[in-house]
Amino acid sequence: MKPVLLRQENISHGDLLLVAPGHPLPPFPVLPEMVPALPDQPDILLQPHAAQSLQRLIATLDGWKQVTAVSGFRTQEEQEEIWRDTQAKEGLAFTQKYVALPGHSEHQTGLAIDLAAQSARIDFICPDFPHTGIFQKFRQLAPQFGFIERYLSGKESLTGIAAEPWHFRFVGVPHSIVIAQKHWVLEEYLSFLKNATAPGHPFSYRFNGIHFELFYVPMEKPIETTVEIPDSMSYSLSGTNAGGIVLTLWRSPHED
Ligand code: DAL
Ligand code: ZN
Repeated sequence: MKPVLLRQENISHGDLLLVAPGHPLPPFPVLPEMVPALPDQPDILLQPHAAQSLQRLIATLDGWKQVTAVSGFRTQEEQEEIWRDTQAKEGLAFTQKYVALPGHSEHQTGLAIDLAAQSARIDFICPDFPHTGIFQKFRQLAPQFGFIERYLSGKESLTGIAAEPWHFRFVGVPHSIVIAQKHWVLEEYLSFLKNATAPGHPFSYRFNGIHFELFYVPMEKPIETTVEIPDSMSYSLSGTNAGGIVLTLWRSPHED
């Protein structure tokens, strides 16, 4: 076994951060430099690894020209402006349904992107991303590349946001696959990991021949802790921005 040291700062970094009503962005999020989500739309930015996955996903689809990206990474000031403009135009009730409060938008993490069908008039707040053709193909393939449809219809009471069929969030594989298979939203997945897993009691999952083990470590107190993981497994960490850290362990097929 080998030790992995978990620190307080790990809580506010990673692909599984919950940024949502009641879960504001950490005061000093550790964000990498953003890059264009797509080569032909240099103003729409994402974190580099999310952009890379998006481009790999798009490369598998015919007819991507029918799609355009509407919004990616947003600064605090941009989210404030979107909130103000939408409230002025559409009123408070609509704004609360479709725009996260400044400081509470996952667009501010650089892990979220809004997509639309190409058209002469695209609605910036509620773009049209149909459930047919290439759009639906994208939606179906997205989890294999780490993305989830974030705001599902029927889950509004959990997310605090109306259904947004155009908004995709990078959480990484295999999390995206599990979330999509269970028809969960991120809130449900993080609750599951928190309630049903622990060091020594992982959730095991197989994807593309890779054996994954996932578990949650509460980080309320102490603020630093060590967990032991098998020598033979690689790992990554993500904070949840909700009091814990998720460890993702994996063993490649040849190590099985
Ligand atoms: N439209 C989503 C909820 C946002 O503003 O982040
Ligand atoms: Zn969005």
